[in-house]
Amino acid sequence: MDIKNLISQMTLEEKASLCSGEDFWHTQEIKRLNIPKMMLSDGPHGLRKQDLEGDHLGINKSIQAVCFPTGATIAASFDRDLIHTVGEALGQECQAEHVGVILGPAVNIKRSPLCGRNFEYLSEDPYLSSEMAASQIEGIQSKNVGASIKHFLANNQEHRRMTSSSEIDERTLREIYLASFEKPVKEAKPWTVMCSYNKINGTYASENYHYLTKILRDEWGFDGVVVSDWGAVNDRVMGIKAGMDLEMPSSHGYNDSRIVQAVQEGILEEAVLDQCVENILKMVERFNKSRDVEAVFDRDSHHDLARKAASESMVLLKNENILPLSRKAKIGFIGQFATNPRFQGGGSSHINTHKTTSALDSVDIEVSYAKGYHIHEDSIDQQLVDEAIKVAKEVEVAVIFAGLPDEFESEGYDRQHMNLPESHNYLIQSVLKEQPNTVVVLHNGSPVEMPWINEVKGVLEVYLSGQSVGEATVDILFGDVNPSGKLPETFPISLADNPSYLYYFGEKDVVEYREGIFVGYRYYDKKEMPVLFPFGHGLSYTSFTYSNMTLSHTKINEDDTLTVTVDVENSGDCYGKEVVQLYVSDTVSSVIRPIKELKGFEKIGLHPKEKKQVVLNLDKRSFAYYNSQLKDWHVESGDFELLIGKSSRDIQCRERVYVQSNTVIKEKYTINSMIGDLLKIESKKVLIQPFIEIMAKTFRVNKESTDPSNVTITEETMDAMFNDMPLRSLVSNGGGTIDFRMLDDLIDQLNS
Ligand code: BGC
Repeated sequence: MDIKNLISQMTLEEKASLCSGEDFWHTQEIKRLNIPKMMLSDGPHGLRKQDLEGDHLGINKSIQAVCFPTGATIAASFDRDLIHTVGEALGQECQAEHVGVILGPAVNIKRSPLCGRNFEYLSEDPYLSSEMAASQIEGIQSKNVGASIKHFLANNQEHRRMTSSSEIDERTLREIYLASFEKPVKEAKPWTVMCSYNKINGTYASENYHYLTKILRDEWGFDGVVVSDWGAVNDRVMGIKAGMDLEMPSSHGYNDSRIVQAVQEGILEEAVLDQCVENILKMVERFNKSRDVEAVFDRDSHHDLARKAASESMVLLKNENILPLSRKAKIGFIGQFATNPRFQGGGSSHINTHKTTSALDSVDIEVSYAKGYHIHEDSIDQQLVDEAIKVAKEVEVAVIFAGLPDEFESEGYDRQHMNLPESHNYLIQSVLKEQPNTVVVLHNGSPVEMPWINEVKGVLEVYLSGQSVGEATVDILFGDVNPSGKLPETFPISLADNPSYLYYFGEKDVVEYREGIFVGYRYYDKKEMPVLFPFGHGLSYTSFTYSNMTLSHTKINEDDTLTVTVDVENSGDCYGKEVVQLYVSDTVSSVIRPIKELKGFEKIGLHPKEKKQVVLNLDKRSFAYYNSQLKDWHVESGDFELLIGKSSRDIQCRERVYVQSNTVIKEKYTINSMIGDLLKIESKKVLIQPFIEIMAKTFRVNKESTDPSNVTITEETMDAMFNDMPLRSLVSNGGGTIDFRMLDDLIDQLNS
């Protein structure tokens, strides 16, 4: 269709009506002009299509679909191909169900373990999050169905999510929160971006021209539709002006009238409204042109894909020669999650699954079972614990299925603490008294404290693994699949260790992100803090040996690509997959930077004794920080260390590269420029050295005085003091020898 021509035929009222939903899930149909409606549905890890009554909290029923592992889980696979394949399956389900856009992936950064929606989000690290999201979008859109990357921007908590303002400095936004969206938007080109409920630095995301137009469209080249989160519209006219095209769900005509009125009163230019209309029409046309009317999907084969995705994502956190389990051993499964696993979270992502497997259903040998706790209760049932102890005593290995029940984490509210239910901790501790061979399998969407960690022999983190969780867990427990997941987030020892701890919930609607760029491992590393399990950690049943790290160059210009290679060998005796992680560390920097940041990863599979070379490429962004004065990414010339590791705290090889910057930051010197800064620059040092000598003389007189009440000043302390003095101190400390005219001359020379 000729969209411009179509718009010219539309009445103002029709244009306004297209800018919000016809109902809960559809865009507006305009029969007079043959403009069809199109359906949008949740997302992100399965299709939640509601045929009857719609809601955005997962309350009413949706059609049966397949629940794949949630974002928290699949991010742990560190496997771009795997998430791409899951994306394709989601796209296929959408085609078969006539859904034009699936609402995901969700890429908000995990700022705190308390966020109720962490189970949907991918990582604390923007590089990992953006790489995985880009692959998922490409997978979905390969089926001619749109993705909706969400929730743009800085929606990192559920508490007061519809009114709070995330107060964040520009550098932090660029390096952490925007970065999670940037690559997927630029490279995977999602059909839609969903703006979030909250405000960013005082302005609602849904009416934020700076982010929706300046950054998203002008800078990143986004040409799709910005859709509001369901109910995220505050002032619709402001939203249109900011570039927020589609309000969802329907505003029941109220906002249509406001738009019409604003145009009639000259408050809103019709051309601005036309742009939103054009964006929406392009999307509707895109879907209708590419409808696969014959599309079907096979739920069972998607169930198998969900099983593979889950087993490739589960993270073996601890293993003291207890796993894999032998099928010959006497084993007890303890805890109700063994029969009723928690495999997805509550809220808008809740899938009506066509089947779900539990570990107890899936295990192919005889195992004893004890319930251990009531799934929806925090309180201890001593009788259930006694039964569990009885089972634990009779077996050789006790496997306890624990985790967070639905009530503990969900969309719509945050957690208040990082603990497991008391009944789970008590069960684990009670069983441990009788059975040292105990393994804990954790079902949770976000880190938990583990007060029993030193006593258990094994811990398997299965996160919220989707509907095939039972089979996938059994695959890992018995070694049919070798675990290869790595933590996409740090597990702190306790909640108070987390960098956002002091400010997380904010004061009323003001949430200051005072930790700045120091989110997750960026903080724990800088503080040299012990953690329970570091970012990138995950064990295997085999072992890997790293060797022969090489760099394509030892010196590069910031625009060059640096190729890093490393050989990895499977030095154990079973097939396994390893995630090779590359971190970049700026050794000397004039700005405060993290110790290291993830800038590359690759997952490879190796047979015993097999060796492969892994190739990773780095570019300018791998070395840059965001410079708020330049309003650009900036690389400082100097040495960078490249660290290759099995985790962020298990570095196997390191090499150095010198990177030459293209940007010269010209500083303007004033009377308040710092002497120490100038002394670091050879050409400036020569100019100020004679003045310093004069100042030093005054200090030396003092030093030589025999008056016992004088402080002892050494040459070193004198230098240290001078370093922190501004140039104007040359006058006040120059003993009358340096006047302001001389100072002005000096400053002119420094600036010339
Ligand atoms: C959620 C979105 C979701 C939408 C529609 C909102 O409450 O924040 O992620 O896509 O509802 O269900």
